[in-house]
Amino acid sequence: MNTHLALTITGLRKTYDTGTSALKGVSLSIAEGDFFALLGPNGAGKTTLISILTCLTNKTSGTVEVFGASIDTEPERAKTYIGLVPQEFNFNIFEKVIDIITTQAGYYGITRSSALQDAEPILKELGLWEKRNDKAMSLSGGMKRRLMIARALIHHPRLLILDEPTAGVDVELRRSMWEFLKKMNETGTTIILTTHYLEEAEQLCRNVAIINQGAIVVNEPTAALLHRHGDKKLEDIFLTLLQRSSTT
Ligand SMILES: Nc1ncnc2c1ncn2[C@@H]1O[C@H](COP(=O)(O)OP(=O)(O)O)[C@@H](O)[C@H]1O
Ligand SMILES: [Mg+2]
Repeated sequence: MNTHLALTITGLRKTYDTGTSALKGVSLSIAEGDFFALLGPNGAGKTTLISILTCLTNKTSGTVEVFGASIDTEPERAKTYIGLVPQEFNFNIFEKVIDIITTQAGYYGITRSSALQDAEPILKELGLWEKRNDKAMSLSGGMKRRLMIARALIHHPRLLILDEPTAGVDVELRRSMWEFLKKMNETGTTIILTTHYLEEAEQLCRNVAIINQGAIVVNEPTAALLHRHGDKKLEDIFLTLLQRSSTT
């Protein structure tokens, strides 16, 4: 057990009932305070990995610890450490913004009155305060995206995991989301995001892992990866590595 690590994954495997082997022995350590990018093409296993960390999907084998809490023996403790922003919108669009937030808080044992207090700065920061009494269905796509982040933060998680947070998001919102995430990280929140925007990883993330066909092919500081590859764009490095790992 190492409490300076936000996440320790060893030998993680997942084979779905369909026979698809989505994770083929993934090992990763992520330090507390890190801003970490998990990169990979569609179908690489990113969402499967995140679903296992957040106890939404059962693993086939391997171990996962979140701030020292094993998902096998202390799943409740492990879950309270994590705020998840899933890839797809999954709130009830007929519910009001504020109720979506307080309902989520309830899952963590936070009372409604306490959640209402905590929600105010979060919704203000994310530009949703004026919309708090509107139904989620009336929000723009960008606002819905920000609502997903607000909901993930209501129980003050130490680790924020975002699965493709900026997929389909316009440039302006993407930039403001980056600023928001940078600020969160500077104030101590460990952040993991999956993305296929290489520019995003390059701009934001201290460390990066590349996953392809269920296996980690690169895991190192973003700067070292860029340096070793002659400071090429991460996008070019990514393509080279993927070609290499798919043909071997
Ligand atoms: N619920 C599921 N049942 C069966 N196969 C799945 C399921 N979810 C994902 N897969 C398969 O597992 C592999 C990894 O998918 P996923 O984790 O969604 O990748 P990514 O998020 O990197 O795009 C893919 O081959 C995908 O088709
Ligand atoms: Mg995915």
